[in-house]
Amino acid sequence: MSSREHEVVLIPGDGIGPEVTEAAVQVVEAAGVKIAWERVEAGADVFQKYGTPLPDPVLNAVRTAGSALKGPIGTPVGGGFKSANVLLRQSLDLYACVRPVRTIPGLPVPFAGVDLVIVRENTEGLYSGLEHRVAPGVVESLKVVTERASLRIARYAFELARREGRKRVSAVHKANIMKLSDGLFLECAQRVARDFPEIDYDEIIIDNCAMQLVTRPQQFQVLLLDNLYGDILSDLCAGLVGGLGVVPGSNVGADCAVFEAVHGSAPDIAGQGVANPIAVILSAAQLLRHLGEDDAARRIEAGVHATLAEPALRTADLGGSAGTADIARAIAERACP
Ligand code: NAI
Repeated sequence: MSSREHEVVLIPGDGIGPEVTEAAVQVVEAAGVKIAWERVEAGADVFQKYGTPLPDPVLNAVRTAGSALKGPIGTPVGGGFKSANVLLRQSLDLYACVRPVRTIPGLPVPFAGVDLVIVRENTEGLYSGLEHRVAPGVVESLKVVTERASLRIARYAFELARREGRKRVSAVHKANIMKLSDGLFLECAQRVARDFPEIDYDEIIIDNCAMQLVTRPQQFQVLLLDNLYGDILSDLCAGLVGGLGVVPGSNVGADCAVFEAVHGSAPDIAGQGVANPIAVILSAAQLLRHLGEDDAARRIEAGVHATLAEPALRTADLGGSAGTADIARAIAERACP
């Protein structure tokens, strides 16, 4: 255990965000890592006050600290302010969204042996925010794909595969229809693949990939996807291993990283103390690895597995009746040094 105190930004977020991030803070403290959390607000309430869901001081705080743990932030549908999540990723150039999807031992799930990593391009594609009304009844959304962003996300995916001893990277696309945009994404992946001869590279059309994932998910090791495909398949993959309550994630750039679960703000269960905090707790474990606190990260992950092995210690999304605080306490006890 390092005795150094780390500075990390904490963005509690909306809906279940404050409940699940508080649970993660409790577990990290129990694991013996010293963190000076700088709590900052972003989201709908902040928009009412400042006219933006993501004020500059939030961005500056993350830039200065270099890392953040973030709860989900809700975004209005069909109008209203731009997604604070997309703004955060674009403003800080957090270009790689990384989501490990693994079967958790002891948890009854549809598939055994799933162990894949989603590597999603996080800054462009159809999330560029370029939409306009061409004429009454006609709108356009622009999908932007650049060589620079495609090369760097492909490189990230291959480097991750090499680092983790994974043998194959699969680029997921729709280049049969979007010949230029997805075509460029694939061309860049092919160029990067040549620098990694020990790693197999293949390509799969997204509709087939979706079907393969729900029939034989164990065949995939690293999925390399653009922004929209990565967003959609992240939730699908979460469903393979227990749902949104258990899958962590990170948004990584050259200068900083923001750790957050795959799930959203779950307004349907917010404030009831029943949300599953495990996805954010596992995201916090990834944060600890990023800070060099590998031992504490391992203890937290082992604590999650030991907790989930007991059916009485599961939240409603996993078929149990435990509350957020029960799970946080159980993992904290098991993660102590
Ligand atoms: P959601 O992920 O919030 O919820 C989908 C379903 O999963 C709901 O039934 C919810 O109760 C359940 N769920 C999610 N997380 C859970 C947890 N930790 N424990 C137990 N059950 C959980 O997706 P939804 O409803 O489509 O989106 C709600 C809001 O969240 C939207 O405004 C959306 O824009 C935002 N969102 C934010 C994200 C972020 O901040 N990174 C990511 C995804 C959505």
